[in-house]
Amino acid sequence: ALIDEATRIAREFDYPADQVQRGVAEYIKQSNDGLAQEGTTLSQIPTFVTAVPNGSEKGLYLAVDLGGTNFRVCSVQLHGDTTFSLTQSKIMIPRELMASGTSKDLFLFLARQIEAFLRIHHNEHFEAHQRRRRDGNNEEDLFDLGFTFSFPVRQCGINRGTLIRWTKGFNIPDAVGHDVCALLQSAINELHLPVRVAALVNDTVGTLMARSYTSPGETGTFLGAIFGTGTNGAYVEKIDRITKLQKMEDAHYDTSTGEMIINAEWGSFDNHLSVLPSTVYDHDLDADSNNPGVQMFEKRVSGMFLGEILRLALLAMHNNPDLGLFKPSKTSKVVTPENSTLYRQWGLDTSLLSQVEADNTAEMEDVKAALKDHLKIENPSNDECQAVKILVHAIGKRAARLSAVPLAAILIHTRKLETDDIVDVGVDGSLVEFYPNFEGYMLEALHEVPQVGAAGAKKVRVGISKDGSGVGAALIALVASKDETLQN
Ligand code: BG6
Ligand code: GLC
Repeated sequence: ALIDEATRIAREFDYPADQVQRGVAEYIKQSNDGLAQEGTTLSQIPTFVTAVPNGSEKGLYLAVDLGGTNFRVCSVQLHGDTTFSLTQSKIMIPRELMASGTSKDLFLFLARQIEAFLRIHHNEHFEAHQRRRRDGNNEEDLFDLGFTFSFPVRQCGINRGTLIRWTKGFNIPDAVGHDVCALLQSAINELHLPVRVAALVNDTVGTLMARSYTSPGETGTFLGAIFGTGTNGAYVEKIDRITKLQKMEDAHYDTSTGEMIINAEWGSFDNHLSVLPSTVYDHDLDADSNNPGVQMFEKRVSGMFLGEILRLALLAMHNNPDLGLFKPSKTSKVVTPENSTLYRQWGLDTSLLSQVEADNTAEMEDVKAALKDHLKIENPSNDECQAVKILVHAIGKRAARLSAVPLAAILIHTRKLETDDIVDVGVDGSLVEFYPNFEGYMLEALHEVPQVGAAGAKKVRVGISKDGSGVGAALIALVASKDETLQN
């Protein structure tokens, strides 16, 4: 009965080719709306980055990265020959700063991490700056910093942008509507650090830039995508198709390339659920989240949410007395609200899914280890392990197939497949990196879209751009530091 029920639930996560196709058609429609006006579900944010690198860029830049699993501070030396050296420190953001503090607390925390990083890795520069300040010498020798801030921001210049809304579990209301570069710069100034916030970068844009720097082809990289805690993509668009730019009076940018990178914010594709698949678990996850009704695509695709979908499905089965899932038996202990994360919202993270999906042992050793590590369940039966495997596979596969929707839609809408060129796509994030065959399932669904087909899908070259956004942010800081219109 247990396996039958798991199989029945798994079927609810099927996402067949005809639905993928409907998704693609709707995505194209919503993306056109987003290019024409503001306030649409797909934000299609102009980034004011109007060229991709070619590998010859040079210089030393700082970068900070907020919005993935870790907060990172790095310094990046671009050698100008498609290579770079990167020094970095990573830490987890304390939970209380993500969701209950003020924006001042958060940005001061970030500035303190930058200070600690400078003291360790660039102390001479740091001390020289402090000395000049003490001597009243106004000469400035500042690091240009690229700020990767992976949330939806309305940009109006390369280093200016106001936060539209928080995503991925962050919730600090007083920051919404404020310029996040100014918030970071004022925290930096409060600590008297020799740093100028030169560029504001979404992680998808950073990933695109980094990939283009390290593997430049004839045409550069076309799209950067993240499948990690959250999901989103950025791609190269023709400026004259971004018609809403004409209405943005405060915007200034270089038009010489005729192109600009658009940050799609595809996590919010189809918030009104006209085409996205939905199960009762998707519904309950959203209803109990701190941002119901938004990021509806992301809530079906990305790492932060897949563990929660699985948890809700397992909990429903556990609460069904006929199934006996994780109930007392001769060997296993009882699962109770006190002893297991099965009962805790966001209690399961995606690494559990990756671990379970990776299992190919007859005894399901990895599944057992995962259940023990993540849920404190000892000695599960084979049927219990099998049921978990069935659900994990279904949830992960739906996520990967859904990921083909924006990809196909952007390729079709930009007519990128109409030439013989290879279309280069840079990806990053814990799902593409660790979830077995995520990319494979995604590409399989991409083939099935008639306007892409197997031939089109073959032209798409996907490559990981690990920790790319540090380098990407440095590259954008470089462009920005040469930009006369930069405002501070
Ligand atoms: C990192 C990038 O490698 O991946 C970050 O440098 C990005 O900018 C992150 O946000 C996304 O993955 P995850 O799994 O950490 O959310
Ligand atoms: C969320 C953010 C988006 C980011 C993505 C991946 O969707 O809103 O800006 O790119 O997560 O980190």
